[in-house]
Amino acid sequence: MSESLADPARRNWVMITCGVGAVGGVATAVPFVASFTPSERAKAAGAPVEADIGGLKPGEKMVVEWRGKPVWILHRTPEQLASLKKTDAQVADPKSERKNFPTPEYAKNEYRSRKPELLVVVGICSHLGCSPSDKFAPGPQPSLPDDWQGGFLCPCHGSTFDLAGRVFKNKPAPDNLEVPPYTYLSDTRLLIGEDKKA
Ligand code: FES
Repeated sequence: MSESLADPARRNWVMITCGVGAVGGVATAVPFVASFTPSERAKAAGAPVEADIGGLKPGEKMVVEWRGKPVWILHRTPEQLASLKKTDAQVADPKSERKNFPTPEYAKNEYRSRKPELLVVVGICSHLGCSPSDKFAPGPQPSLPDDWQGGFLCPCHGSTFDLAGRVFKNKPAPDNLEVPPYTYLSDTRLLIGEDKKA
């Protein structure tokens, strides 16, 4: 693995670079941030964000922005949870032991999450920072193996991830999708970016 892949700052830089076309250059991004209200600036700088997951049905995914990154919240169905048993032998780091983007202790389990049904991961590929696409439908389809169980496909260089965000073996991405710090404020409210409050 090259040093560049392991360095989150480098990865963020790549993301920003990728986004230059969309926002018209880094130079224009700075005054944009400066125009934020104090609470918006705090959020951009890394303050935790809350997510209301009360309406998130099984099979649905929502995206919350935290530190300028997309955080995916996926409400997995029983079938999707069961698929993780099948992918266990096919992924590169099934127990999330790699250290570049350390998985919090509470997500070092077979579901990579605090509650089995709810996956919370940063939606950025650990290779060079592209955002993978949802490929939830199981079965054969373009760019995916015939025994596909559902997961995510990074369009940039073909890395694939299962429904726990675990990267499959022999793919360019060196790591699983990052699990951010998070905690439940209630059954329907998540706090992302902070895991000490209960
Ligand atoms: S950035 Fe995802 S595979 Fe290269």
